[in-house]
Amino acid sequence: MNILVTGGAGYIGSHTVRELVNKKHRVVVLDNLSKGHEAAVKGAQLVRGDTAGRELLKSLFREHDIEAVMHFAASSLVGESVRLPSWYYHNNLVKGLLLLDAMVESGVRYLVFSSTAAVYGEPREIPIPENHPAAPTNTYGATKLALEGAMRWYGEAYGLRSASLRYFNAAGADPAGDIGEDHDPETHLIPLVLKVAMGHLPYLEVFGTDYPTPDGTCIRDYIHVNDLADAHVLAMEALASGASSAVYNLGNGNGYSVLRVIRAAEEVVGKPIPVHYGARRPGDPAMLVAGSKKIKAGLGWQPRFTDLRAIIETAWRWHRSHPRGY
Ligand code: UFG
Repeated sequence: MNILVTGGAGYIGSHTVRELVNKKHRVVVLDNLSKGHEAAVKGAQLVRGDTAGRELLKSLFREHDIEAVMHFAASSLVGESVRLPSWYYHNNLVKGLLLLDAMVESGVRYLVFSSTAAVYGEPREIPIPENHPAAPTNTYGATKLALEGAMRWYGEAYGLRSASLRYFNAAGADPAGDIGEDHDPETHLIPLVLKVAMGHLPYLEVFGTDYPTPDGTCIRDYIHVNDLADAHVLAMEALASGASSAVYNLGNGNGYSVLRVIRAAEEVVGKPIPVHYGARRPGDPAMLVAGSKKIKAGLGWQPRFTDLRAIIETAWRWHRSHPRGY
């Protein structure tokens, strides 16, 4: 298929582009490079711009005979989203709507959307199923949920078919070691732990030790970025073969505490990681674990990286070979 990938120079987008190219799809990446990296785009044409450019979108759709869009481009920092709601609503929701409008106008019918576990807010049950109430506790989750809602109604009225993929904690890097996670600033646990291991940071601060979990630190469900990439390709191929619009969770279904992640990383890097115990980070739920039965049953998705150490090993390969990122 001919596919436009917005945000394809970013972390999850670039891994998905590689998977698409491996599967012989033809890919055009649209990325404004505000966060993404030109060097992360392998095997696809990169166009610099964003989804606010209606004429640009329409000409890309026409010129490349685009059949489906994968939409990754967004701002995605939870803490920042609470401080800058205007930016998040404009960048994630308004620009998302402009993309949907351009797709409808140009007759592009399939959309795979990068959504998030942050749509659920504080969970009432673990693992979290897709029909769990969505009650985001931050602007980031709220903007993703709002665009999911728009996609549903655009589907009813204009025939747009979509899959919203709600990721839990994306982690790891392509085992080839040439693409990986490179955020500035970095806020995520695993890359920060590995930066400590490389000596770029003196210690890892553990955000809160008084959560109602066995060791007092937050529990998350870490899912390998290549498993996320697989799910995008499956979801898109299913839409193109007639599947209805759907929302899917993507996680391993295993929860690991912050301290268990640090222990696993110590085993991978072969040395101790110095830690400081700090206060809770505002807005962090104690425990997020995905129930991903729906995509396994519906699309036959199966994560290949189920072991946390194996996930961290792939991240370590990337960080060691690219100590300063791209
Ligand atoms: N953590 C620390 N110290 C750090 C960084 C993180 O203790 O220096 C802890 C966090 O408090 C959290 C866990 O490690 O308990 C994981 O934190 P990340 O920042 O790596 O990931 P989050 O769970 O906060 O965020 C992820 C996605 C977001 C998504 C969110 C949903 O990255 O996009 O899950 O809650 F919105």
